[in-house]
Amino acid sequence: MADRDPKIADARCPGPSYTDMLNADTRRAPDYLLLESTQDLDNDALSTDRYTSPAFKALEDEKIWPNIWQFAAREEDMPETGDSVVYELGDKSFLLVRQKDGSVRAFYNVCLHRGRKLRTESGPSIQLRCPFHGFTWHNDGSLKEIPCNWDFKHLEDKDLSLPELKVESWQGFILISENHDLPPFREWIGPGVEHYDNWRLEECYTGAWVGKVVPANWKAVAEAFMEAWHSVVTHPQILGFTADANTRYDLYGDHMNRAITASAALSPHLKGKDQMYVIQSLADFTGAAGDARSRRGGVEASQDMRGFDPADPWLARKLLAEGNRESFANQNGHDYSSYTDSEMLDNLTYNIFPNWSPWGGMVPNIVYRWRPWHDVDHCLMEVRILLRTPKGEKPPKTAPMFMVPDGEPFAAASHLIGGALAGVFDQDMENLPYVQTGMKASKNKAIELGHYQESRIRHFHQTMDKYLSGELPK
Ligand code: FES
Ligand SMILES: [Fe+2]
Repeated sequence: MADRDPKIADARCPGPSYTDMLNADTRRAPDYLLLESTQDLDNDALSTDRYTSPAFKALEDEKIWPNIWQFAAREEDMPETGDSVVYELGDKSFLLVRQKDGSVRAFYNVCLHRGRKLRTESGPSIQLRCPFHGFTWHNDGSLKEIPCNWDFKHLEDKDLSLPELKVESWQGFILISENHDLPPFREWIGPGVEHYDNWRLEECYTGAWVGKVVPANWKAVAEAFMEAWHSVVTHPQILGFTADANTRYDLYGDHMNRAITASAALSPHLKGKDQMYVIQSLADFTGAAGDARSRRGGVEASQDMRGFDPADPWLARKLLAEGNRESFANQNGHDYSSYTDSEMLDNLTYNIFPNWSPWGGMVPNIVYRWRPWHDVDHCLMEVRILLRTPKGEKPPKTAPMFMVPDGEPFAAASHLIGGALAGVFDQDMENLPYVQTGMKASKNKAIELGHYQESRIRHFHQTMDKYLSGELPK
């Protein structure tokens, strides 16, 4: 552990903290929002090799991916018996199949004859028949048929069931692991996972799903979404309603951390603006997006003061949270009355190690996933928007992922995620190719991190190191 000035550990952006905003909430903030959770982290530089070296990627492939729980699909991607999902990550390929009893089994998506992938697309399946010579398995993975079986007498005593992975379901996410000794998902994550109990993402469905191949290492792309402080330069259009530098960063155990960035609150970079300016900025931003996927429902509803004191320093938050409660309830019939302003407004950006981010709270939830691609210099970034299923209705089946065509921006998916959100992603995408090529051009090969605002990146690498050294999984 490097020596550091103890003052650094407490350094925060001057001005009101996120906790101050929680204390001004119209509801009592629960402990899972109120309590900070930090860890003692060093300040050592990270090496750019972690992002650019094929040898480092090979280590990740060997030590990390087979030894974690991976988010492979959502329940609503495969609701019916026989529905299957092909889930790929780098060179790995897995096949998830919904069984007659409603459970999901996951297999290595590889024919046990000469190794062809069994399926190349998700979709309904009555059996798993290899398109090469026709070896066939039942949907439960047991062998059904070998064509010309007179030529395979030598396999009669062999178990030719498809090798399986561990499968669990949590909050509507289907999780798989190659490591059969791993603890159950909730136990594996450890502290923090219980925050979701109140948010019930299993009541949600995938309202939009967009993917884009990004020319940067998966970690560099994920890390661009782990801190809010790049907003001041990269996303200046959101400062009027985003308290970027007041973001709270919390670290839990090894596998979860979060950033909470207040919305409907002014950035500390902007001075001398009143609450009406905050409301107007948010209205201007969401005006282009236009529906629930923009994560804001209450901008229009905020035109009257709803009995709040016009001089309240947190007026915008109170008005807009109440507006969201009302408009989301109108959209889907759920009761939002007990949820805090924070849960109705803010960006509760949780990450689950190593590569996905299911946002918390009751606003339509963004879910990011960053999948390594076939080389160290690319990844697949996916964005889902989870919408709450209208009360009493069945969640609609997920529409296939819309893949942004090569070389095109996220704006090509504006019809799915809204123009405002696409615009923010495209600003992030402007940086990333130059992060990857810049790291390769670096003289000192060093990445220096802010102690607090980039603590989630530090925490993420600390956990990676535990996997690489064999300290994890336990
Ligand atoms: S490779 Fe699958 S049947 Fe031959
Ligand atoms: Fe960003």
